[in-house]
Amino acid sequence: MNIIVAIDGPAGSGKGTLAKALSQKLNLVNIDTGATYRCVALKILREKVDINEKEKIIDLAKNISINLLTDGTVLMDGEDVTKEIRSKEVTSIVSPISSIVEVREILVNIQRKIAEGKDVVMEGRDITTVVFPNAPYKFYLDASIEARAKRRYKENQEKGIDMTYEEVYENIKARDYNDMHKEVGSLTRTDDQIYIDTTNLTVEDEVAIIEKVIKGDRNEENDR
Ligand code: DC
Repeated sequence: MNIIVAIDGPAGSGKGTLAKALSQKLNLVNIDTGATYRCVALKILREKVDINEKEKIIDLAKNISINLLTDGTVLMDGEDVTKEIRSKEVTSIVSPISSIVEVREILVNIQRKIAEGKDVVMEGRDITTVVFPNAPYKFYLDASIEARAKRRYKENQEKGIDMTYEEVYENIKARDYNDMHKEVGSLTRTDDQIYIDTTNLTVEDEVAIIEKVIKGDRNEENDR
């Protein structure tokens, strides 16, 4: 059976950085599901579709091709959009787009297909609850909103994304609300996730926690 490490958590909780580090340490394919929602948002902007035109958005999602390569490259309809999907414009519309139930259905199918037959670490908002509810390893990453805004602001600066700290903070606050109040695929805490507060942890600490859970489990299997 393939290994699935499922990680959910709010924006800026460190899922992306952790998933990347874990994938390298444990030789897993890293699947950033947020990138699939960002591709749809980018296409909406490019085709100048109004964000209230639900039917057009669903149609656009039905016809999109998304590929997530193992080196982190994101391909939309064959084009490398890795950098563009992180822009301020995409970030500002992606959360409402991800609330459209039909868009979620389409993208969840794409995400499952990308993971098929592989050992993966997958991060998003509904991986532990909707995409792979039976994943053997489920984690919920969290941190204070200030810590998350600071991290995202620093990341943006490194990537040359022009957003003030206040803009980042307000965007994260709005996305938190939206991500937690969706009709389907809401960001939710459940009893079977392992909760990790990353406010005062380094990525190495987080990797060590997850590695211990996975290795502990494997040792138990060997003892049986
Ligand atoms: O992780 P991110 O910031 O790149 O995600 C972009 C948006 O996509 C975020 O506002 C919530 C949404 N999303 C989602 O609804 N479900 C997922 N599995 C991943 C992301």
